[in-house]
This record gives sequence, structure tokens and C-alpha cells, in this order.
Amino acid sequence: MAEQEVELKRGLRDVYFESTESSLVIGSVGRLIYRGYDIHDLAERATFEEVAHLLLEKHLPTQAELDAFSASLRQCREIPPEVTEIIERIKDGHPMDVLRTAVSALAAFEPGVDDVSHEGTLRKGIKITAQTPTIVAAHHRIRSGKPPVPPDPSLPHAANFLAMLFGERPDDETARLIDKDLIVHLDHGANASSFAARVTASTLADVHGAVVTGLSTLKGPLHGGAAEGVMKMALEIGEVENVEAYLAAKRERRERIMGFGHAVYRAEDPRARHLREGSRRLAEKMGDPKWFQILSEVEKRMQPYAERGICVNVDFWAGSVYYLLGVPEDLFIPIFAVARVPGYVAQILEQQDKNMLIRPQMRYDGPMDAEFVPIAERG
Ligand code: CMC
Repeated sequence: MAEQEVELKRGLRDVYFESTESSLVIGSVGRLIYRGYDIHDLAERATFEEVAHLLLEKHLPTQAELDAFSASLRQCREIPPEVTEIIERIKDGHPMDVLRTAVSALAAFEPGVDDVSHEGTLRKGIKITAQTPTIVAAHHRIRSGKPPVPPDPSLPHAANFLAMLFGERPDDETARLIDKDLIVHLDHGANASSFAARVTASTLADVHGAVVTGLSTLKGPLHGGAAEGVMKMALEIGEVENVEAYLAAKRERRERIMGFGHAVYRAEDPRARHLREGSRRLAEKMGDPKWFQILSEVEKRMQPYAERGICVNVDFWAGSVYYLLGVPEDLFIPIFAVARVPGYVAQILEQQDKNMLIRPQMRYDGPMDAEFVPIAERG
């Protein structure tokens, strides 16, 4: 075995590979900051468009800037008919596979696809941000045997997404809840998928490619896929009185509880609060309190884990919000993606503005000095 005297930082935990002005996760106290603003202020007082502007343009917009930014998003929502055709051909795939394939295909129709100037990446990044909800909704409609609903330029980002998904305008409360959900999912420090997008961007590959890398990484159950797992768990539990036995069996099998724990947070994920409240209100409004009650009981009984720093995370409550809205489970990650794409773009811009190729090292633990044996002589 080769012996190299190096200290491994597996999973790159606690490694600072770059500086950022985009977002800060303070794990010890459960704080999240986007460009100086606390996530609670942004979630309660701003809209998705304002926060996306904050991340992409580096400041909260004036009314005139917001109007111009919202107009540019609304103008770019359409996707080429060829991309809709591709979606039709692959409609039986997982929505995340369809989404990443469709975003990849968009590159083929994008003039200046290889332009990695700040202006070029920003222009294309805003367009991908606008097109992502159209792709997710079109795919869902097509696979349900219904025609895609064209984007409605009179609606803001979140409301238009819901209208394209369900075929009817959402009420204001629902639109605001999803708007808030998109805000809290927008960016999150060196999360796995934004880091992956940065790695691609650091080769000076184009923004479409870097976003596709991010989307591919987001799909995993340890990252974007946890909300789907939470709702599966709630359905398996079935009734509030089964919670204790369910968790005991999970503990016995040493299985993880989806929606708990985080690579950085050792206190409650600050994003969870907004979705817990959203889930509670939605359950009340729909007269369907069961899932909220089951999840509340799970959260209560996970208190011993919280004392070890394994606390509730954003995905725990996000799943129940989507479920109560009638969103199928396999669309939970694509909703996360709709929110995170402008976060990727903000980080891709930041990466390329002061680029350095991301190229770490690995300790080699394999053999050395192996003697080459020709194929005919190998036993
Ligand atoms: N349930 C039970 N035990 C857990 C959990 C959990 N959800 N999370 C961590 N642990 C335990 C783990 O088994 C380990 O115990 P031990 O030391 O006895 O082996 C210890 O905590 C440390 O685990 P780790 O994997 O080294 O810790 P991590 O900080 O790298 O894990 C995580 C982060 C997100 C991968 C993990 O908490 C997890 O798998 N959670 C469930 C999946 C989930 O909810 N993911 C969504 C994250 S939030 C959305 C996002 O921002 O991506």
C-alpha cells in the first residue's frame, strides 16, 4: 500500500475552499443569511423576485429595479417546442431526470451558450430561472395526459408555477406559501449541489452545464430528496399512535430519520419554522390535520436527537406542505430545484468572477509497483 502522510478531510467537512458574499449558514445557532439579510426577514417581508434579485444583482431592488427584473423573468418563461417534444419522449422518467435533461437541451437553443462573461451568465441564468418552473409543470401535465399550461405573464413566479402545474390560479395564501418556500430554499452556503455547480463552473464551462450538475446532485436522498422521504415516513406511520413504535424500530435498525440532521446545523434549521407554520395553517384550512399531527409527534419524540445536535431540517415540513397542496411526492425535489436554480446562478457568477479551478487532492490507498502481466498470461 502507498502511504501518504496527509490529513484526510472526508466529505470536505470544515474545509473552506472559497469565500462568498452570497449566503452564510451559522450552524451552531441555526441562522441563515443572504447577503447580510436574515432569512426570517426575507421570508416574512420580501417576495421571491426580490430575493432572487438580491442574490443575483447583489442588492435588494428598488421598485423600478424589481419591475424590470420581474418583467425579464416573465418574458423568458417559454421553452422551445423541441424541448417540450423531448419532455414528451421521456415523460415516464423521474421528474428530476426529465428536468436536468430538459435544462441540458435548452443549451442547444441558446445563442451564446459558451459566453461565460458576467453579463452573459447572468442573462442566461435569469432565463433558466424563468424556464425551470415551465419545464417541471409541462412535464407533470404531459405525464398526466394533459396539455401543458402556457405561462401567464400576469402572475408572479410562484403563482405562475402553481397555475402551470395545476391548471388553475392559486389563491393568494397558497401562492404566498410557495413564494416563501422558494425564498427559504434559494441558497445555502456550500451545499452539495451548489458546490457541484461551482466545480463545473470553475472549468469555465457554461451556466447551463453548471446548473445541470447542480440539479443532478440535488436529486440524492441525503440532499434534496429528503422531503420525499419524510412524507413516505408519515404515510407509513399512518396514525399518531404509531409514531413511537415506528421510531423505535428505526432506531433498532440504525436507520436515519429523514428530515433530521444537517451537515452544518447543530440547532434547528431556521428554514423549518416557516414551513412548519405553513403546514399547520394549510392543515387547518384543508380540514386535514392528520399529517401535521403525525409530524408534530415525530418532531416531539425526536427531542433526544435534538439534544445531540440532530435537529429538524427544512425538508421535514416542506414535504407536508407539498402533500397537502396535492403535489405528487416525486415533484418535491423539482420544487426545491425551482427555488435553488437562481442560487446556483448566483454562485456560478461568483465562482467565475474570481475563478480558480477547483481541483483538490485524494490520498491514494491503492497498491504500488504492481507488475504488469500480459492478458494472455492472466489467470
Ligand atoms: N437520523 C438518525 N441519525 C442521524 C441522522 C438522522 N436523520 N442524521 C445524522 N444521524 C446520526 C448518524 O447516524 C451519525 O451517528 P453515529 O455517529 O452514531 O454513526 C451521526 O448522526 C452523524 O452523522 P453524519 O452523517 O456524520 O452527520 P452529517 O452531519 O454528515 O449528516 C446528513 C448530515 C444530512 C447527511 C444527515 O443528517 C442525514 O442523513 N439526514 C437525513 C437526510 C436529510 O434529512 N437530509 C436533508 C438535509 S436538509 C436539506 C438540504 O439542505 O440539503
